[in-house]
Parts: sequence; structure tokens; C-alpha cells
Amino acid sequence: MGDIKKIAVFTSGGDSPGMNAAIRSVVRTCAYLKLECVGIYRGYQGMIEGDFKEMNARSVNNIINKGGTILKSARCKEFRTKQGRQLAYDQLKKEKVDAFVVIGGDGSFTGAMLFNKEFDFPVIGIPGTIDNDIFGTTFTLGYDTALNTVVEAIDKIRDTASSHNRLFFVEVMGRDVGHIALNSGVGAGAEEILIPEEDLGLERLLDSLKRSKKSGKSSSIVIVAEGDKTGKNVFELAEYVEEHLPIYDVRVSVLGHMQRGGSPSCYDRVLASRMGVKAVESLLDGKTNFMVGVKDNKLILTPIEKAVKGHTKIDSELIRVSDIMTT
Ligand code: F6P
Repeated sequence: MGDIKKIAVFTSGGDSPGMNAAIRSVVRTCAYLKLECVGIYRGYQGMIEGDFKEMNARSVNNIINKGGTILKSARCKEFRTKQGRQLAYDQLKKEKVDAFVVIGGDGSFTGAMLFNKEFDFPVIGIPGTIDNDIFGTTFTLGYDTALNTVVEAIDKIRDTASSHNRLFFVEVMGRDVGHIALNSGVGAGAEEILIPEEDLGLERLLDSLKRSKKSGKSSSIVIVAEGDKTGKNVFELAEYVEEHLPIYDVRVSVLGHMQRGGSPSCYDRVLASRMGVKAVESLLDGKTNFMVGVKDNKLILTPIEKAVKGHTKIDSELIRVSDIMTT
């Protein structure tokens, strides 16, 4: 505990709302515990280049409500090499940094795990990604905000779909998991939700859309997770349906990177604040190579090598709810 006097914090991988709240919490916890804190810009790339900035309690004023990350983020190929990690280690030593907190996704944690193994350097991860695809936490930072963003966007699309009696295919993010698609689809009342965790095939989609039409629905929304496994992208799906079900006037909307932006929800701000404190206090307790997570609203620590290997299982009860709701 006594040998950690200076902690670095940085963001890595795809940004997500709540990252700034987590940075703020790490910096303020260091200040509270009279530790020095340094921010590293642009993730591992900035670590290799020594792009550091001393941080104090005032450095993180007015950022809790801001999307994105004041420390920027990046993906870094060089850090995947031993030489790159050695350069990063040398920079940290030069800056007299004793440990770091990485806020990011599984790719960022894999780098931290390697770094810890090679240099015996204390690391703690905070799960920051909208995908909610990391084992060891019920929620990742940014997921709740992204769900609300997507539901709001689908509500808007539903306005125009119902005005023109159209069928909309809406593609959402989530990399290779379907949490955003499933939860936002149920929340926005989508008629069909296509997720990578269950490929129900195109015939089932056609049957469901036929049933919707027959039951008197004049417009429909189909949410497609970007990692969906039908083998067709969202534009090809639209074409396929137009071909096989000419009764529909079909359009496509790809939500894209707007899902990553926006002011974080209260839930994400509170979770980020809690995780930042836990990360710093865990380092002081001599804990390393763990990811901070939340389960049943309690903060827990999961070994990073477990966190990077698994995904949070898709909620089968919610899949059942979504099937029933399409009646
Ligand atoms: O991991 C977050 C995420 O937004 C994924 O949902 C998406 O597939 C990916 O990042 C996009 O990556 P990039 O920002 O490099 O285009």
C-alpha cells in the first residue's frame, strides 16, 4: 500500500459516455487520499509517447456531464509489441508512475494484463464501452446512455414509419453481441430484433412480418445488431424483404457513432463515480490485474484474464418477453 504514491489514468478503445465521470472519480479519489495523479492522453499510444498531464481535483471540473473523454482515446498497434510496451514502461518510470487505471473494453484490458505480466506493474480496469460485452459486470459504462440514445432515435424513426406505412430496418452497434439491440428493441417496441446470439433465419423473419401485416400493423421496425449472423447486412436484408414481401415499402437507418455520444445518464455517472473510487482503493489495497464490475448493485473485482475471455450472456427471459410483445 505504501509504495503507491502516483497513479495514472487513461481511456482506451471505443469511447463511451461516462468515461469522463470515471476519470473525474479516479482523479478526485487520488486527491482525497493525497496521491499524485497523472492523465495519459490517447490511451496506450500516449503512454508510449509520454503524453502525460498532471491532474488535480480542479482538472476535472464540469466534466461529469460530458460525453466522450477529455483524455481522448485511441487504438494502439504498437502496444501489441513487446518493444512498444517497453517504451511505455520506460515512460511511466520516468514519470514516477506506480500504477495505472485503464478505462476501456476487453482489448484495452488485454494490453493491461500483458503489461502487468511483463513488468509486474499494478493495473486495474474500469469497463468503459457501450457494448456491455465484458464478463464480470452487469453493466459497462456507457451502455445505459447508449440504450436511451437508441430508443430515442427509434421513437423518431417510428414517427415517420407510421406516417408512410413503412418497414424500417435499424442497425445498432454492439460489436459481436446483441445487448443493445435486444434491450433497445424491447424498449422501443420493435416488431423484430435480430441478434448474433440467436440466428432464427430469414424465413422466420418473413413469417413474422407477414403476421404483423395480417394483424393490421401498417408499419414495423426491425432492429438489427451489427454483429447479426443472418449473413446479410442491413441493406441486403431490406432488399431481401422487398423482394419476398412486396407488400412492404422498406427503408434502412444505420444509427452509427451517435450511439457513442451524448451526456451520460445519471446511472452511468453514478456507476462511474463508484468504480473510480473502487479502482484507486483496490490499488492501495495491493490488488492488481482486476477489473472493477457491478453485480446486484454491489461493486466486485474480476481477474482481468477472466473478464477478457467471456461475454455477459444474452438475457433469455428478455428474448421471451420480446417474442410475446410481437403478438
Ligand atoms: O466497441 C464500441 C463500438 O462502438 C462497437 O459497438 C463498434 O462496433 C465499434 O466500437 C466501432 O469502432 P470504431 O469506433 O473504431 O469505428
